[in-house]
Amino acid sequence: MTHNPLLLLLLDSSGLSSELVKALQKKDIPMAVVRSEAESRRWLEENQCQAIILAVSSLHSHSSFLDGLQDAAIPVPVIVAASEPSVNDAVVALQAGAVDYLESPISLNRLENALEKAGVSCQVASAGQQQAKTEKGCSSIIGNSSVMRQVFSLIKKVCDAETTVLVRGESGTGKELIAQALHYEGIRGNGPFVPVNCGAIPGELLESELFGHEKGAFTHAIRTRLGRFELANGGTVFLDEISEMSPMLQVKLLRVLQEKEFERIGGTKTISSDFRVVAATNRDLEQEVEAGRFREDLYYRLNVIPIEAPPLRERVQDIPLLVEHFVARFNRLRKKKIKGVSEEVLIRFGRYAWPGNVRELENMLERMVILAGSDALSVADLPERLLEGGTAPVERFEEIPGQGFFLNEVLADFEKRLILQALEQTDWVKNRAAKLLNVNRTTLIEKMKRFKLVSSSAEA
Ligand SMILES: Nc1ncnc2c1ncn2[C@@H]1O[C@H](COP(=O)(O)OP(=O)(O)OP(=O)(O)O)[C@@H](O)[C@H]1O
Ligand SMILES: [Mg+2]
Repeated sequence: MTHNPLLLLLLDSSGLSSELVKALQKKDIPMAVVRSEAESRRWLEENQCQAIILAVSSLHSHSSFLDGLQDAAIPVPVIVAASEPSVNDAVVALQAGAVDYLESPISLNRLENALEKAGVSCQVASAGQQQAKTEKGCSSIIGNSSVMRQVFSLIKKVCDAETTVLVRGESGTGKELIAQALHYEGIRGNGPFVPVNCGAIPGELLESELFGHEKGAFTHAIRTRLGRFELANGGTVFLDEISEMSPMLQVKLLRVLQEKEFERIGGTKTISSDFRVVAATNRDLEQEVEAGRFREDLYYRLNVIPIEAPPLRERVQDIPLLVEHFVARFNRLRKKKIKGVSEEVLIRFGRYAWPGNVRELENMLERMVILAGSDALSVADLPERLLEGGTAPVERFEEIPGQGFFLNEVLADFEKRLILQALEQTDWVKNRAAKLLNVNRTTLIEKMKRFKLVSSSAEA
């Protein structure tokens, strides 16, 4: 059995025991932090961890999580840590299958004990750190095209630097994966990776998310809460959709970037936290600066090292690898045994513009795997928008990868694509397609046989 001893720490919004976070940071156990059950479910779909710590005020609003534990929807041991402990909660948690119930204040001893019960020993942590590094580093990013190889080499070059990185690219191009790789490949890889989506959290809340607040700072601040900058001590804060940050917060962020010091909202104590910032945007930040929506000084601060996540249409050579990766993943998740996709599907994929980039490909394959009628995906399984014609730009042609390639296969593939295109443009009337290609009808028919080209309407 493979172990990935990353801990998933679910801190609900009503409160968290700062001593717990501090204790975990002291133990150097690689962990991911999520803020809601929904976020934890998404995280668990894509990642693995060895145990979950559910750090909540009380179990009151978390019964569905415990149900998930009971019916084995949550695949790993869960430790509950409560800042407002009660005997009743302890009983409920343990009955639902939690391995331990920790009460605030949490001692290092009790925590170690609980982690041991959950199978996360501090010795395996270091092995786990190694594994987290390989699983969430560059190797989690699929791609072998020259543009992607440039991205990998840039990540390797700057992961250990402390400078701020700005990851840019269209939606769904893998900006978050790049940010993760920067973290896990680098010297901070054992520390926490703390993502914050600046576009998804409303302005006033974002400030307290980032900086934390003191007890009594505002009406609902019933206890002190650590902000994400503080949680990221020793690690990386990933500021996603940075262009969405309000002007007021932009000023505060600039100061934090310069000084690595800040105060919690309502507090006077200066907090220092050692974190690196990786930001991402799918907007043209220069344009935002020009329009006066984004501070120029902050822009320069963030854009020290820009990394461009290339759109999928500019690296169609990576599509077969991505397809293989996603089909394998959805086979695993959906308990299916799809062997792969047909050549013709790959050809269609290569021609499509992918406005939603890798995420669109991923979602499409998930749907295709779920709905598949047989163990191989064919054109019949494709969504409508991929069946509409569309021309294959010739300039998109294969570049020669570093390790070489098979000329005959590439030429055959090229030939096949062009023949398919000709057939589609002529509604599969062979005479007309042959004329378009300036070949004999018999040559065309022979090639169609060789490439197994049949019209999808004939197939259906
Ligand atoms: N090169 C890749 N290899 C494997 N999976 C990828 C790759 N690029 C993207 N993905 C997957 O595609 C999805 C979108 O990636 P990610 O969230 O990193 O994109 P993004 O650029 O942050 O998008 P957005 O701007 O919409 O937030 C994720 O599920 C991710 O795992
Ligand atoms: Mg993103």
